[in-house]
Amino acid sequence: MIQETSILVAYFSCTGTTRRVAEKVAKAAQAALFEIKPAQPYTAADLNWHDRASRSSVEMSDPTSRPALAGIPPHLDSYDTLFIGFPIWWYVAPTLINTFIEQINWTGKRLIPFATSGGSGIEHCEAQLHRQYPHAAWRSGRLLNGNPSAEQLAAWIAEVLKA
Ligand SMILES: Cc1cc2nc3c(=O)[nH]c(=O)nc-3n(C[C@H](O)[C@H](O)[C@H](O)COP(=O)(O)O)c2cc1C
Repeated sequence: MIQETSILVAYFSCTGTTRRVAEKVAKAAQAALFEIKPAQPYTAADLNWHDRASRSSVEMSDPTSRPALAGIPPHLDSYDTLFIGFPIWWYVAPTLINTFIEQINWTGKRLIPFATSGGSGIEHCEAQLHRQYPHAAWRSGRLLNGNPSAEQLAAWIAEVLKA
């Protein structure tokens, strides 16, 4: 099943947690890996959620915020399945993920979100993404906290690709 599909795992990560899990997802799915990078990297001060004036606080409180990307994946047309990984920020996906989704052509692709967090679930993120992009072919996503094993990831990927 996995071999019949062409999969890209695209992820955004500021402090490495989502990156580590994205690398494992890509390996388990025999997929290509792409890092979603902001044109302007986030500094530690930018990520301070205690500071209402920090870059992340300002962006996340503005529904129209669309931070610029450093680039989009090459050869995107050749993939039929796209996993999109991100850290949960303020219970939802960072607005950089909105920029990404709005700048790529996802027509005809399955989109599967995954996330890491300090404890928040992914359900609220998924509900918001479904509301924002109702025409995308969303498949059920997953919170991948706690260093899931290769076997756990393979079981989830097989299940999601069957749907
Ligand atoms: C600005 C900001 C907002 C966050 N908001 C949440 C949140 O709402 N719920 C949560 O559980 N964790 C939250 N976190 C924690 C991150 O989701 C968590 O540390 C994540 O694993 C970081 O991934 P990364 O290392 O790939 O950047 C937040 C972190 C930042 C920087």
